[in-house]
Amino acid sequence: MTASLVTASIDAQSIATASYIVAALLFILSLAGLSRHESARQGVAFGIAGMAIALAATIGVATEHAETVAIVLLVIAVVIGAAIGLWRARVVEMTGMPELIALLHSFVGLAAVLVGWSGYFSVEDNAGQTEVIGSLLDIHHAEVFIGIFIGAVTFTGSIVAYLKLSARIKSAPLTLPGKNYLNLGALAAFVVLTVFFVISPSLPLLIAVTVLALALGWHLVASIGGGDMPVVVSMLNSYSGWAAAASGFLLNNDLLIVTGALVGSSGAYLSYIMCEAMNRSFISVIAGGFGIEAPASADTDYGEHREIDAVSAAELLTEASSVIITPGYGMAVAQAQYPVAELTRQLRERGIEVRFGVHPVAGRLPGHMNVLLAEAKVPYDIVLEMDEINDDFAETDVVLVIGANDTVNPATEDPSSPIAGMPVLRVWEARNVIVFKRSMASGYAGVQNPLFFRENTQMLFGDAKTKVDEIVAALAAARVPA
Ligand code: TAP
Repeated sequence: MTASLVTASIDAQSIATASYIVAALLFILSLAGLSRHESARQGVAFGIAGMAIALAATIGVATEHAETVAIVLLVIAVVIGAAIGLWRARVVEMTGMPELIALLHSFVGLAAVLVGWSGYFSVEDNAGQTEVIGSLLDIHHAEVFIGIFIGAVTFTGSIVAYLKLSARIKSAPLTLPGKNYLNLGALAAFVVLTVFFVISPSLPLLIAVTVLALALGWHLVASIGGGDMPVVVSMLNSYSGWAAAASGFLLNNDLLIVTGALVGSSGAYLSYIMCEAMNRSFISVIAGGFGIEAPASADTDYGEHREIDAVSAAELLTEASSVIITPGYGMAVAQAQYPVAELTRQLRERGIEVRFGVHPVAGRLPGHMNVLLAEAKVPYDIVLEMDEINDDFAETDVVLVIGANDTVNPATEDPSSPIAGMPVLRVWEARNVIVFKRSMASGYAGVQNPLFFRENTQMLFGDAKTKVDEIVAALAAARVPA
């Protein structure tokens, strides 16, 4: 190799390394930006810039080492992936985001499995050169095995999360007999197989760990009930980060290691925060509902419910001096945020105090309700977190529960309920509660809601947007001309 060629190669590698550092910094800035409403857009911009630099640097390094045909294939794959990504991002509904994210996590898991398998075969195929690697070979085998394990758990776990979130399978937890021992047994088997594989790597062991991890991922997420799914999504986000980091070690790519560790640790921290908010044990949730027994089926008869129509609801509102609106998933489905914003404006014009109470897991993704309300230009200062508003319900005349169910369910006070102990908005303490929904069906967690049968609760059945529109029209009709 001539001196100029060596210099060119070193230069390309140095430029790539420098670019990776810049990209990693941009990813850190992106995470920092995404942690606040005001800087979220900037955070996204940093993320896009980091990813563009990372892709360019990767293609640049590849051109130094790979054949033209491989480069062409790489570029084609990037173009196809980018086109599909742009299309999905444009058409996805806000309510469909969690399942899309779960599906994307499954791709990361699958990629880690494929990288692991290819890492194994590339070393086996170059058996003559393995002496050069010497003692590093054991580490390589451990990386292959661990990478495949994390990747396969993430892959099937994310597929189950996707199926549950998109209601293609039931969200109720699967409770196989001795499910905790199945999970622990699978982990113990993984440790034993790893030791055997490092000592004497073989294809059957690789197949065994892949099958074991695929089954474990499926079982872990299938065992978790609907109410805990928000934590599962962020937990899988974390797993996908660790899977990417494992691939980074195998591919000898520093940026993938750094990015994977960033995603892995931020996902784990988010899961922890969500567990705190929902009064759930972090260990129990990440271990597939470890220690949670199947709840007794709740076929309790709560009695009769009462109904109200839009005109009477408008009358009740005009007589109120304080109103709290607690939105949920149904508001997102109905796209009722715009008439809700208009209703808020009209009530405030009449001198009525209107505030919003937002539960941390209302809707289907963190911050879902905040984004919708901001989109409809509801002022930030009247949108309060659950903890900020929960003591005020007792002093409130009317609460409008718009498409929320689990997040306002008093059954959380019942220790035998599957959502026992989860903090909720205590709407039932208000003088009057109006619940907007289409039927008496249960919410995402599949638990009946005794709120609907309380003395002070009235059900306003129908699509939330249509019903809020009707109330706005009734208020406008009742307006006394100046
Ligand atoms: P849910 O408990 O899911 O209840 C939503 C209610 O909206 C349903 O009871 C439904 O009743 C009603 N609804 C649906 N479409 C409607 C429409 N067009 N008009 C009027 N009502 C409509 O909602 P929530 O209180 O927001 O709780 C969220 C749940 O999702 C929690 O269990 C949470 O753990 C889970 N989850 C949250 C996340 C995150 S991170 N936020 C992620 C995954 C899962 P009808 O069918 O009778 O209309």
